[in-house]
Amino acid sequence: MNTALVILAAGKGTRMNSDLPKVLHPLAGAPLLVHAMQAGASLGPECTVVVAGHGAELVRKAALSHDPTCSVVEQTEQLGTAHAAAQARDALRGFDGTVIVLFGDTPFVRSETLAALVEAQSQHDVVILGFEAADPGRYGRLVMEGDRLNRIVEFKDATDAERAISLCNSGVVACKADLLFNLIDKISNDNAAGEYYLTDVVELARAQGLSATVVRCDESETLGINSRAELAAAEAAFQTRARAQAFDDGVTLPAPETVHFAFDTVVGRDSVIEPYVVFGPGVTVETGATVRAFSHLEGCHLARGSTVGPYARLRPGTELSEDAKIGNFVEVKNARIGTGTKINHLSYIGDATLGDQTNVGAGTITCNYDGVMKHRTEIGDGVFIGSNTMLVAPVHIGDNAMTGSGSVITSDVEAEALALSRAPQIEKPGMATKLFTMLRAKKAKQQRGS
Ligand code: UD1
Ligand code: CA
Repeated sequence: MNTALVILAAGKGTRMNSDLPKVLHPLAGAPLLVHAMQAGASLGPECTVVVAGHGAELVRKAALSHDPTCSVVEQTEQLGTAHAAAQARDALRGFDGTVIVLFGDTPFVRSETLAALVEAQSQHDVVILGFEAADPGRYGRLVMEGDRLNRIVEFKDATDAERAISLCNSGVVACKADLLFNLIDKISNDNAAGEYYLTDVVELARAQGLSATVVRCDESETLGINSRAELAAAEAAFQTRARAQAFDDGVTLPAPETVHFAFDTVVGRDSVIEPYVVFGPGVTVETGATVRAFSHLEGCHLARGSTVGPYARLRPGTELSEDAKIGNFVEVKNARIGTGTKINHLSYIGDATLGDQTNVGAGTITCNYDGVMKHRTEIGDGVFIGSNTMLVAPVHIGDNAMTGSGSVITSDVEAEALALSRAPQIEKPGMATKLFTMLRAKKAKQQRGS
């Protein structure tokens, strides 16, 4: 079945009280809009159209950086959901399949639910995603007659009897493209809000003798975010689900409520994630890895058996091979760390490639930035980097080489060589005792004087 997505994201989101458009507020490390796009992407749509309005340029950037193939159209005035959907018409010209309209501020719709919606659309002209609301509040009400949906009435326009209905509109609509735009053309703004309601497509379709029905989902899927409090509640709901998913995937979390996942975190079976670990976007952890307490990871990949932390920071572009070990107070960025290689204490490794079975001593720094440009450090297999080595990039350390502790390495080191660059040690016999005597006498004199 050919599908296209139209994601409405032009609204201001007044209740967020923010300069940032509502749909760009992050949930689990990704804008709300990206969650809606991801949910829709599970249908394999032929095209995705995002309708932007408030903060359109920022929304366009976010949409295109998630999916460069999507189209972003602008609704310059927000005249209602039907008017918003109408803006997608040109972008969908020539498309003759089913259009699914989603809201950019509704992040939790499941792919199975959208699949059911598309399936139902093959039997009915208009399909609406509905839910039984615990508290129907200001949602649009679905007026049913048996299995058939007669119309949707907005809260503002509803009679008391209609307000008593608990089956509500999620906002998600499925309809063939040509029919949808024909119906939208007929919608007026003659209602309590003076807006063009997309929900009117139902009544208009029925008036033409067409069929309309409802696919039901759980209320938790249709949760829309309107305020900071709702955003925080949605984050909590996301994290609860992500932790439950991790347990199902065979991951050990001794303190699950302290571990924070991103929208795309993947953790393999028999991995252990200790307390207070934060996953930013783009992390994959393979089977049997350990992330120790208080570590922060983003944009990185941990191979089998690797260990990170406690108190480690892995930044984007970090690639740990099997059994690699990153210890406490180590920061790694844009670096490939070979099999069994260890960076155990207090180091910064950035823009680097490290071979296998190499050991990096405490306090080592790859000096990758000269104030203007970034440079790479390359370290071979079986290398021993002495503690507190400064590796001034670009620099290459050959296989099985060594650097002496405290060295500042500015030129390449050949394989199997020892590189030392530090002031030679000198020794003055008895000098320490002389110095102590002198200094103590000085202090005593000062104390007498004061
Ligand atoms: C809408 C539905 C209501 C449903 C509820 C579910 C209509 C008329 N009503 O009401 O039946 O129960 O959602 O949450 O559709 N938007 C635009 N341009 C506009 C107006 C809205 O892009 O001109 C976008 C908003 O950014 C938002 C979405 O459409 O993402 C929904 O708009 P909103 O004004 O929040 O609709 P509700 O009044 O909540
Ligand atoms: Ca809303």
